[in-house]
Amino acid sequence: MIFDSHAHYDDEAFDTDRQELLSSMEGAGIGKIVNVGASVEGVKATVKLTEQYPFLYGAVGIHPDHVGELDEDKMNWLLHLTGEKKIVAVGEIGLDYHWDVEPREVQKEWFVRQLSLAKEAKLPVIIHSRDAAKDTFDIIREHHAGTTGGVIHCYSGSREMARDYLDLGYYIGIGGVVTFKNARVMKEVASYVPLERILVETDCPYLAPAPNRGKRNSSLNLPYIIEAIASLKGLSPEEVEQKTYENAMRMYGIHG
Ligand code: NI
Repeated sequence: MIFDSHAHYDDEAFDTDRQELLSSMEGAGIGKIVNVGASVEGVKATVKLTEQYPFLYGAVGIHPDHVGELDEDKMNWLLHLTGEKKIVAVGEIGLDYHWDVEPREVQKEWFVRQLSLAKEAKLPVIIHSRDAAKDTFDIIREHHAGTTGGVIHCYSGSREMARDYLDLGYYIGIGGVVTFKNARVMKEVASYVPLERILVETDCPYLAPAPNRGKRNSSLNLPYIIEAIASLKGLSPEEVEQKTYENAMRMYGIHG
């Protein structure tokens, strides 16, 4: 069975066929999915989805593009939600210097606050980092290392930085980019990171793997990602599928 460690089924891209699509997952070998909140609305929708589908778990957190929505009341609300049985992580949280929707100092402040929230909730974190590799790493090392762990989602950094995250105990999330012909560094990273520390993810509806690049993504595309990792590592797809499933179960603390 396959574990999609990062999906956004609350996205409007799924409004026309969400129920039909999610109902087809188990039959297609997708055993578990973590739906990841990114905004206040997204967190609300994530909690609802966890109530509707037994195989779907949730993460609550505010993406750097949306931290303008945060205040003390919202932080208390998020902390309260982390007590729900099917909420298994805090995320996605981090820094996005590509879009720079919020000032960088504001992004950093709420990133640190949400890392503390994860520690208080005793939940792992899901990290979003775009064009902000060094600041993200420095903040994690200073404010979160050695605590509740987590995953660097859709990892896009260098092999050296992957090693630094592995040394701190984090998992590396690998998505559709590993299937792209020109993704030399990503392929190098996927070869390098031990299988025990890899989670597979879609980040759907975004980042569909080849041969469906550019189309709406869904967990049904995960076999392409698993095959790419398997061929880079000289392993069977079955082994990659099983190990990454176990890894996600362990990291998210899901039993059974
Ligand atoms: Ni995401």
